[in-house]
Amino acid sequence: MTGAWVARAVATAVELGVLDRLGEGPADTAALADGLGLHPDRLGRLLRLLGAAGVVRERDGRHEPTDVGSHLRRGHPSGMADLALLYDTDMFGDAWAHLADTVRTGRTAFGEAHGTDVFSYLEQHPDDAALYTAGMAAGGRFSTAVPDVYDFGGARTVVDLGGGDGELLATVLAGAPGARGVLVERPPALAAARERLGAFVDAGRCDLVEGDFLREVPGGADVYLLSRVLHNWSDGDARRLLRLCRESMAPDGRVLVAERVLPDRDGPWLSLVLDAHMMVMTTGAERTERGYEELLRSAGLTTREILDLPLEMRLLVAGPVPSPS
Ligand SMILES: C[S@@+](CC[C@H](N)C(=O)[O-])C[C@H]1O[C@@H](n2cnc3c(N)ncnc32)[C@H](O)[C@@H]1O
Repeated sequence: MTGAWVARAVATAVELGVLDRLGEGPADTAALADGLGLHPDRLGRLLRLLGAAGVVRERDGRHEPTDVGSHLRRGHPSGMADLALLYDTDMFGDAWAHLADTVRTGRTAFGEAHGTDVFSYLEQHPDDAALYTAGMAAGGRFSTAVPDVYDFGGARTVVDLGGGDGELLATVLAGAPGARGVLVERPPALAAARERLGAFVDAGRCDLVEGDFLREVPGGADVYLLSRVLHNWSDGDARRLLRLCRESMAPDGRVLVAERVLPDRDGPWLSLVLDAHMMVMTTGAERTERGYEELLRSAGLTTREILDLPLEMRLLVAGPVPSPS
């Protein structure tokens, strides 16, 4: 019952710069409070809780980050500080406050809280959008393992639909020098993608396209990437997107779907928590293997193989349903 309070304490330590300062060297509570302009008694009590949560430890009266705490420094390559701040936003919290409405009515909690869908909201709230893109990038570190499990060697054009900050496409292009990339995104993520993919854009190997993948996707590519995109959408919208890929792709093309794939019963903790988050935030869901296959089939596609990725993620490799001979 107290998980939300601990998460708030961790995010607060990130927000106040406590973990950044301790990352520079151990400090006692008084010096830390003095340096950061904080209340010594209240800071001491926050640190005591963070100690119990395994984020900091005390040695000889001075505090230092644990390994977990080090990952929560701003600028750490894991991006965990970004994730802590994103999960602590009112944007998420106010939506979660409407969980009961969703369970009662089936309407999305985010819409009940904010009066619009999450991606339209982000276009109107640039600060939240920056946190969202950074947080998604932090939660998307599995993407660097995608070329280890799937060979992009023969690909000529790789289209990443809803590619976020471009981390996955950059990884693919770096490992496949013969390939060109296209990233399709809504405006808030494009600024980060421009930064991440700038070198490939300058080299003429990548286009950044502002677009709506429910209306149109670039044609003729041999690989379409959908990383953590289908779980944001109802079956109807996901089918529309997959059909657009099927109609637009090269004849021997592939659609690569990176998602957490639930087993038929129960499921691992993180995947189930994120499934609940999907029903709070979107019309989507984490789906089972069978659920994905049914969805793909309804769009003229079928799963060719399923590959394991880190962080409970899997890569479904889909191609056109073979025509009966
Ligand atoms: C959950 S994020 C996944 C980002 C990235 N693919 C990853 O795995 O880290 C979903 C992305 O889809 C983008 N998106 C949402 N609706 C879209 C639309 N209609 N057209 C294009 N992109 C869209 C969002 O801006 C967001 O960056």
